[in-house]
Amino acid sequence: MTTYKLLLLPGDGIGPEVAREVEKVVAWFTRSGLAAFETETDLVGGAAIDAHGVPLTEAALDRAKAADAVLFGAVGGPKWATVPYTKRPEAGLLRLRKDLGLFANLRPAICYPALADASALKRELVEGLDIVIVRELTGGVYFGEPKEIVTLEDGTKRAVDTQVYTAGEIERIAAVAFDLARKRRNKVASAEKHNVMKTGVLWKEVVTRVHAERYRDVELEHVLADNCAMQLVRNPKQYDVLVTDNLFGDILSDVAAMLTGSLGMLPSASLGAVENGTRRALYEPVHGSAPDIAGQGLANPIAMIGSLAMALRYSFGLLDAADLLEGAITRTLAAGLRTRDIAGPGANAVGTAEMGDAIVRELQAKAG
Ligand code: NAD
Ligand code: IPM
Ligand code: MN
Repeated sequence: MTTYKLLLLPGDGIGPEVAREVEKVVAWFTRSGLAAFETETDLVGGAAIDAHGVPLTEAALDRAKAADAVLFGAVGGPKWATVPYTKRPEAGLLRLRKDLGLFANLRPAICYPALADASALKRELVEGLDIVIVRELTGGVYFGEPKEIVTLEDGTKRAVDTQVYTAGEIERIAAVAFDLARKRRNKVASAEKHNVMKTGVLWKEVVTRVHAERYRDVELEHVLADNCAMQLVRNPKQYDVLVTDNLFGDILSDVAAMLTGSLGMLPSASLGAVENGTRRALYEPVHGSAPDIAGQGLANPIAMIGSLAMALRYSFGLLDAADLLEGAITRTLAAGLRTRDIAGPGANAVGTAEMGDAIVRELQAKAG
């Protein structure tokens, strides 16, 4: 059996708390003989700043490049609010995405049957919800230059961020969305703001061309990003695959998270281009370091554990193992276990470790 090399980057805040639970699941898979993993751990974000003065060391970056997949927790927090901008915790994550070439971020939002009443929306709007946001992850306003604050002659300040997309960047993310749609309900919605932004004009033009040249069998709809945010709350089940840029994807995926019950439910896969049959990949929950609940054992580990399920599926092709893990999450929720974020007011809630343990027990029960 192949032994896969995992690099675990727990990070800050609730990152290490949810990473501990994913480690239990990784250990279970190795113990059960269903998959074999060799796990290394390194620092990222504020934890790396405290130890090394930078949010990502070159050694950690090299380890990430050498790993078969990276499992990332979360970074950031008030402790590092005053570090220089280029060395802030989040810069460690952005460097990993950029230097590993992880341009495609898949953010599935599934409403588990047991959680239909935990959503911020009415049950009938979210029951059966299963959409994927395909977020472009290495371009746009996150990385465009110039990006600066300058002091003008009169002493006042001016800040600039630059939104840049090349046709090639749009083409490759559109292809990821169309390919994914073909394995699902064959529908893509592309969100941009061509009414205001030149990048939006090019985005729409390129997506339209890629569709016409290679994916005529897939249904394509263009939607303005602001309307898309409204549609996600009005009638989210109209969507299947939603492709959008880096910033809109960040915002729309937090909206999608609340349709499923909690930000603590949303996993993601950040994928590079396929080269010689393999691709670089980092798996990260959509949520952050949650400073408001960090250190209390309250965080929901399902986004992080679900990210491992995505690694099993997308990096290792272990589809049965991925189904097994997703099934264990479904059954744990069906059995009534809830962390505080999905418990509802006044209801009993379990802690992070109890939820992780329960998922491992479900794995064990199913696999025998
Ligand atoms: P956040 O995602 O950390 O938290 C937003 C809200 O969701 C909080 O109330 C939090 O308690 C709740 N929440 C998040 N994850 C949860 C979980 N697993 N279980 C239960 N509740 C959960 O966003 P924020 O507060 O805006 O940002 C905090 C820090 O995290 C910032 O420094 C930000 O830059 C960083 N951040 C990092 C990542 C990442 O590392 N991938 C993602 C988003 C934000
Ligand atoms: C996310 C986060 C990150 C982003 C931050 C922490 C850099 O919000 O992954 O959603 O904006 O991409
Ligand atoms: Mn975000």
